[in-house]
Amino acid sequence: MMKIYRSTEILECLEELIPVYQAAFNASGEKVDRFKAQVKSAVQRCVNPVVVVLYEDGSPVGAVWGIDFVPGNWFSQQISDELPTWRNWHDGTFEVNDIFVVPERQGNGKGQELMMGLESYCADRTILLCTSRNNNGRVLDFYHQLGYEPIIDSVRLGGFDDVTVFVKYV
Ligand SMILES: CC(C)(COP(=O)(O)OP(=O)(O)OC[C@H]1O[C@@H](n2cnc3c(N)ncnc32)[C@H](O)[C@@H]1OP(=O)(O)O)[C@@H](O)C(=O)NCCC(=O)NCCS
Repeated sequence: MMKIYRSTEILECLEELIPVYQAAFNASGEKVDRFKAQVKSAVQRCVNPVVVVLYEDGSPVGAVWGIDFVPGNWFSQQISDELPTWRNWHDGTFEVNDIFVVPERQGNGKGQELMMGLESYCADRTILLCTSRNNNGRVLDFYHQLGYEPIIDSVRLGGFDDVTVFVKYV
């Protein structure tokens, strides 16, 4: 079963997503806290956060979440100068912040299902997302397979993480 949570509804599912996030990223407590803070901040800032969650036997096995790509966002501040100037990226664009599937269910189409759920929700919009360029061939393949194209080959987020930014017009 897939469920979509919007705005303040997200706070209802946040706690049950923590073990999924932790397992998928093998995340430290600090990284998990950052994730929670980011989600809560998105709710408070009213940037239309959306979380798509996949459940199996009543438990979440994966999720994807993101927000409107607006000028105040950290991601926008990091990449806006690098984006081509032929359009206003802040008009009708959605940014994906994280996608994660529990390790034991990875490679079974769950990630693809989540992205398709998100894309149905974002119909007629542009989606931007990024992923690390280092040791990340599998995730890069995942986005290519789903029709995402690189729009910025290499940019350093926060001055350190070297990422590729992908775009899809859905
Ligand atoms: C990235 C992630 C969300 C993908 O979810 P998933 O359920 O494993 O992916 P899917 O099974 O839907 O795979 C869809 C496509 O991705 C690619 N893919 C997935 N696993 C792959 C692998 N082991 N090797 C190569 N390509 C792979 C394939 O192209 C696959 O298409 P196919 O079914 O035709 O082979 C998941 O692996 C994950 O949670 N990883 C850890 C967290 C993470 O890195 N998130 C992304 C941060 S940007």
